[in-house]
Amino acid sequence: MRILIKDIHTIVQVEEDVLRTTAVKGSDMKYLPRLEKAWLLVNDDIIEDFGPMSTYPDNGNIVISAEGKWLFPSWCDSHTHLVYAGSREKEFVARSQGKSYEEIAAEGGGILNSATRLNDTSEEELLKQSLPRLKEIMMQGTGAVEIKSGYGLSLEGELKMLRVIKKLKRMTPMAVKTTFLGAHAIPREYKENRRGYIDLITGSMLPAIAEEKLADYIDVFCDHGFFTVEETDVILKAGGKYGLKPKIHANELAISGGVQVGVKNKALSVDHLERIGTDEIIALLGSNTMPTALPGTSFFLGIDYAPARQMINAGLPLCLASDFNPGSTPSGRMAFVLTLACLKMGMLPEEAINAVTINGAVAMELLANYGTIARGKKANFFLTKPLASLAMLPYYYGSDLIDTVFVNGQVQNE
Ligand code: NIG
Ligand code: FE
Repeated sequence: MRILIKDIHTIVQVEEDVLRTTAVKGSDMKYLPRLEKAWLLVNDDIIEDFGPMSTYPDNGNIVISAEGKWLFPSWCDSHTHLVYAGSREKEFVARSQGKSYEEIAAEGGGILNSATRLNDTSEEELLKQSLPRLKEIMMQGTGAVEIKSGYGLSLEGELKMLRVIKKLKRMTPMAVKTTFLGAHAIPREYKENRRGYIDLITGSMLPAIAEEKLADYIDVFCDHGFFTVEETDVILKAGGKYGLKPKIHANELAISGGVQVGVKNKALSVDHLERIGTDEIIALLGSNTMPTALPGTSFFLGIDYAPARQMINAGLPLCLASDFNPGSTPSGRMAFVLTLACLKMGMLPEEAINAVTINGAVAMELLANYGTIARGKKANFFLTKPLASLAMLPYYYGSDLIDTVFVNGQVQNE
């Protein structure tokens, strides 16, 4: 089926001839290619063609008029934990009364709280709770997403989460990448036997996951109170034997050495980075590892924001993701991530949009088919409500400015 969209105010992140295959970095991040007064033709699930209205091909396709509306490639959200059981609003209230995230975790709340609930929830019920979250973020403009395990912390629990992600992948038109995060926390029963839990990850979980082909990547929460650099190294190397590339949680709570161990293990991305300094920036500069900031977490936990300006000014690429999870960021709304990036991290709207499109796609190895508007790429994009300028999107932070969502060439609005 062919759908022709006419009178588009502006197509954002458009690629004409040679398609980009690498991340946008440093001073290039402020450039966002656009085509004004344009049309775009979708053929089944693919972007077939586009051009200025002066070349409009009036030829009997289904026509949608997009007067005043902007067309963006769907967001590529490269870091979420959107499969979880129940919710943690009691911890939110406790934090509003002064308790810290780390205090709550030390008292058995936090990740361990979610793990207890997850292990008490059936696979069917977990799928039922998670599917609406995936639909919600799709209607908020996300067209490709990475989802982590990490609330099982037992062989059965981790497999249950990963099987749910596999089912979600079949049920959604979005692109989904899966990350095994067995090393999210040390479960209660292994508190005095950390080595035993790491052996369970490397000796039992990884072979079972590989057998069922349940994951693309491996993650470790390398941070104060969670996994050490040495433990992280062991786990990443074990994952590597099964072909799982690392994407790790680093430097959220402390300067953890997580960035360096990630770079050393050729991580696809190192995520969080609320606490990094010059050494980490230098390590990243000599690598292909994508630094990824999660400003929603900084907002919701009231912690520092990753030093985006310092990283971009040093010439690094930067990716932004939601971190959607029940504890530190119960939101997958990428438009709000853009607002925070501009207001709290000193990024330009153009930089923030590069970070959630091209760089998000790179952080999931999806740039060949997603992340820009290009001929032959997947027809994953959205039309906005009429906008006077690009900055209106992050500026109206409470409004839903996304109008029509296309994923795999199909309109998703009901
Ligand atoms: O990315 N930092 C570690 N993991 C999650 C939070 C998980 C939770 O609190 O449930 C994060 O913020
Ligand atoms: Fe996370």
